[in-house]
Amino acid sequence: MGAARLTLWGVALFLLWNLLLLLFLLGKSSPPAQLTAQVSGLVREVEVQLEEQKSLLQEIQRLRRAPLGPGLAREETHNNDSVIPILVIACDRPTVSRCLDRLLRFRPSAARFPIVVSQDCGHAETARVIQSYGDQVSQSVTHLRQPDLSDVPCPPAHRKFQGYYRIARHYAWALGQVFDVRGHGAAVVVEDDLDVASDFFSYFAAALPLLRADPTLWCASAWNDNGKPPLVDAARPHLLHRTDFFPGLGWLLLAELWRELAPPRWPAAFWDDWMRDGERRRGRQCVRPEVPRAVTFGRSGVSRGQFFERHLRHMRLNADAAAVDFSAPGGAGARAVRALVPAESYARSFLGDVYNGSRDETLARVLETGRLASSVGAAGGGGGGPPRPGRVTYRSAEEFKAAARALGLMDDLKAGVPRGAYRGVVSVMHEGRRVYLAPPPHGWTGYDPSWT
Ligand code: UD1
Ligand code: MN
Repeated sequence: MGAARLTLWGVALFLLWNLLLLLFLLGKSSPPAQLTAQVSGLVREVEVQLEEQKSLLQEIQRLRRAPLGPGLAREETHNNDSVIPILVIACDRPTVSRCLDRLLRFRPSAARFPIVVSQDCGHAETARVIQSYGDQVSQSVTHLRQPDLSDVPCPPAHRKFQGYYRIARHYAWALGQVFDVRGHGAAVVVEDDLDVASDFFSYFAAALPLLRADPTLWCASAWNDNGKPPLVDAARPHLLHRTDFFPGLGWLLLAELWRELAPPRWPAAFWDDWMRDGERRRGRQCVRPEVPRAVTFGRSGVSRGQFFERHLRHMRLNADAAAVDFSAPGGAGARAVRALVPAESYARSFLGDVYNGSRDETLARVLETGRLASSVGAAGGGGGGPPRPGRVTYRSAEEFKAAARALGLMDDLKAGVPRGAYRGVVSVMHEGRRVYLAPPPHGWTGYDPSWT
């Protein structure tokens, strides 16, 4: 019935516009202003109705798919609100099996985490690999194919970026399948060259209610842009942070966010940098782990391994032995989740640690030696307990980049935001102690997009 009414409204809209056109042609002059206004008012109403019909249809589809009634295994009765499909973005890498094998190995429930592989590129061998999972029905791996394999129109100067255009088109289609067609309320997006950690699912299961409850969070990511072993505290695998930098690469979003981003707004290319623009972010943060829950093995990707050799290939997943149950009541994981909210108290406590609980370091010394002055000859910091964190102050993009390079961090900024930064502060480990790359203590007014 929903579909029939939708069609009717569509026909009505079409007829109205034709009527307007006819009047215009017959009169060889503009129709009376009043009539034009009435018709466009009607058209707008019809449009609103169409939107409502569409969401009704989605709701019906969603309810129809929701498993019902007794007799079904407990496993199958997760209500739709807790279901998190894992959307795997694939193209022409048969090694997507490496990604899928780990997802399947660690997935605690096929009903709660259905795997949807969306394949672009029409690559036959990759399709066969994906298909081979679908055969094992109980595993619940769905194989979708992005239907439009044509070249994406782009300015001549952007021909060399065709790959980025194709990726953006694929993302728009695949997210549309998950949210608009299947009506899911949330999804985790995974690229085909990611390895996930054994507590990947536990992390996202705990992050979902957080995103639902706190509008200042717009994503949770398994990625740490500075996830190389010397920069992370592997002894604190439960630790979570807020970041203003959109990490992508194994990330959870809600349907509400998709409605903000969806076409016609969705960009033709460079979707991730588009997300990083302040206009999309609107002051919100992503949750990120201290220790990576996703790393990439895609050496030769569309960006031609821009950072692969220097950074990406050195990242290490959280060890299986250190897996965290983020939902265990009273556990360190659950405490870390709670510490992220509310936003104001997280900010207060974080900025307190950065500006009151740390020791000032001289930037010049860091640039010269690649070390913190106080760490030279003072490893361990004297007495017991963890050494006091250090703080390196930067006052310009150049200073940030130089300090980041000296300490082995990612040194690029997007829309003025350094990778992993929160309120301008990048927090990493250095020779076993915490160090903050931070703006001066007073007067920080936000990111400057001219910092590149
Ligand atoms: C980089 C980013 C990636 C982002 C992409 C687009 C890293 C490590 N990776 O891609 O997160 O999405 O830029 O801005 O920062 N794909 C298609 N169709 C294609 C080609 C690729 O769907 O025509 C898919 C791949 O299967 C993969 C994803 O797009 O899932 C990224 O492609 P990849 O080749 O891995 O490029 P990166 O350089 O890693
Ligand atoms: Mn990649």
